[in-house]
Amino acid sequence: MYSGLVHAHSGLRWVALLLLVAAVATAFSRWQGRADFTESNRKLYLFTLISVHTQLVLGLVLYFISPKVDFGMMSEKLYRFYTVEHLAGMLIAIALVTVGYSRAKRLSNATAKHKAVAIFMGLGLLLILASIPWPFRIPGAGWF
Ligand code: HEM
Repeated sequence: MYSGLVHAHSGLRWVALLLLVAAVATAFSRWQGRADFTESNRKLYLFTLISVHTQLVLGLVLYFISPKVDFGMMSEKLYRFYTVEHLAGMLIAIALVTVGYSRAKRLSNATAKHKAVAIFMGLGLLLILASIPWPFRIPGAGWF
């Protein structure tokens, strides 16, 4: 089960990243172009939210079973990364994506909705990119 979860969590990063890039690019161009808020925009932003929340659920389960999460080994870079840095970075990033989605839902003006998504999901995307254990940064991490 552990290995299956790591693969699911690792592979789903690409789905979340693709959706985030599509959502931020769409929101930014529709904010700047003062375009409508369509049903397909709403769906894109919703699926983006769902993809990062799925990562949150998988990540939380992994946090309790992964041998790479160990508070007693914090002097080692790899353990510190998964125990503190990955967790903190991703929790803040997922909060930003969630704020973007819920603000857009509350606002009534189309331009303001796209602006909220562009800014908050944009910041979330940057933080996710910085918090992913890329293989060139973290030993033992994979691409998929
Ligand atoms: C959008 C959010 C997230 C993304 C894109 C993401 C991505 C990843 C990736 C790519 C890996 C490396 C898997 C590999 O070694 O191939 C990983 C590992 C891990 N993630 Fe996340 N993660 C996210 C959120 C979270 C959260 C919120 C938590 C904790 C609550 C978490 C906990 C973990 C743990 C414990 C591992 C280590 C698994 C292991 O190899 O034992 N992740 N994550």
